[in-house]
Amino acid sequence: MSGSCTTKPTPPQTHGAPFWLLAELTYRCPLQCPYCSNPKDFAGYTNRELTTDQWISVFEQARKLGAVQLGFSGGEPLVRQDLSKLISAARGMGYYTNLITSGVGLNETKIESFKKAGLDHIQVSFQASDESVNNMLAGSHKAFQQKLAMAKEVKANGYPMVLNFVTHRHNIDKIDRIIELCIELQADYVELATCQYYGWAFENRQSLMPTKAQLERAEAITNQYREKLIQEKNPMKLIFVTPDYYEERPKACMNGWGQIFLTVAPDGQALPCHSARMLPIEYPNVLDHSLEYIWNESPGFNKFRGYSWMKEPCASCDEKEKDFGGCRCQAYMLTGEAENTDPVCAKSPEHKQIIAARNEAELPVQNKFIYRNERNSKDYVTENNLLIATDSSLDE
Ligand code: FES
Repeated sequence: MSGSCTTKPTPPQTHGAPFWLLAELTYRCPLQCPYCSNPKDFAGYTNRELTTDQWISVFEQARKLGAVQLGFSGGEPLVRQDLSKLISAARGMGYYTNLITSGVGLNETKIESFKKAGLDHIQVSFQASDESVNNMLAGSHKAFQQKLAMAKEVKANGYPMVLNFVTHRHNIDKIDRIIELCIELQADYVELATCQYYGWAFENRQSLMPTKAQLERAEAITNQYREKLIQEKNPMKLIFVTPDYYEERPKACMNGWGQIFLTVAPDGQALPCHSARMLPIEYPNVLDHSLEYIWNESPGFNKFRGYSWMKEPCASCDEKEKDFGGCRCQAYMLTGEAENTDPVCAKSPEHKQIIAARNEAELPVQNKFIYRNERNSKDYVTENNLLIATDSSLDE
């Protein structure tokens, strides 16, 4: 046999299966968190939501492509009256299903119906351990008590108690109280995730970003509690997520563009991440294309796969296979071009913007937020000035 090979070379595999499907069922939400990652122009899409059957078709197609985890998110997914039906359909296809909710709109009957439908996991998010701060950030006077009641109900129904606290400069100094509350609620997993500055959080960055000293203190306290939990044989797990603004190298956002994450927005727009809608890229819609085409062939999903799109300093960087140049959305927000290196990287010529944001965080705390609500989003859509809301704009 000669040494020559006639087999056609296999093209390099640039992506696998979309393991994680995030179904953003709706942009409707009773709360107004100023750090919401929904797009600022969400009001332009609120009247266009996929129907029950269209969602079920999305789940089927994604499952065929290899998706195994399905997150129901929003907005607030509880406002969809067909949620039990969607859970049941997804569970029947073999998905591990996860409901990501504020807890507002949840009640005993709904929890029971989700359980019957086969829901695997419920994650309830809190804004703070203190009622007034929680409600100030949620933009609702009633949110905190409702969340507490629902967290207890979730646990009573035998679900693992998963709590998510988004931390920022208004609650991070109370990290001990937050952890104590989680212990009281008998949480199993607690995510103490510092704000990521996308969407509305980017607008409110100066009012939200903690100082480096605040972060270090919070992490040290979290570590002390980890020790204490081990000593007391409490199985609660604390997950502490720091903001990349205090790093010198970027995160491998989404594990790489179009590698394992697939988000479908309420109107059927398919996105490689939940923030990608802001990029000047034409994404396919599940109403016009099969998910198979969308995931494997569409230009939007292929745009930042592989390494050929990279500019310097990423193109010749020996860490590019580790971080993929960082986050495309962040590169776009901070530099105006999604192809640029994520400025979190100290090698980026725009890293100075990150340093400036760190310095800004040292300025006195601001209590003014641009709330994520229909009115502010409409203003954004019509290019009017965004409404600067304070506590007085909360619901009655
Ligand atoms: Fe979109 Fe990082 S959030 S790529």
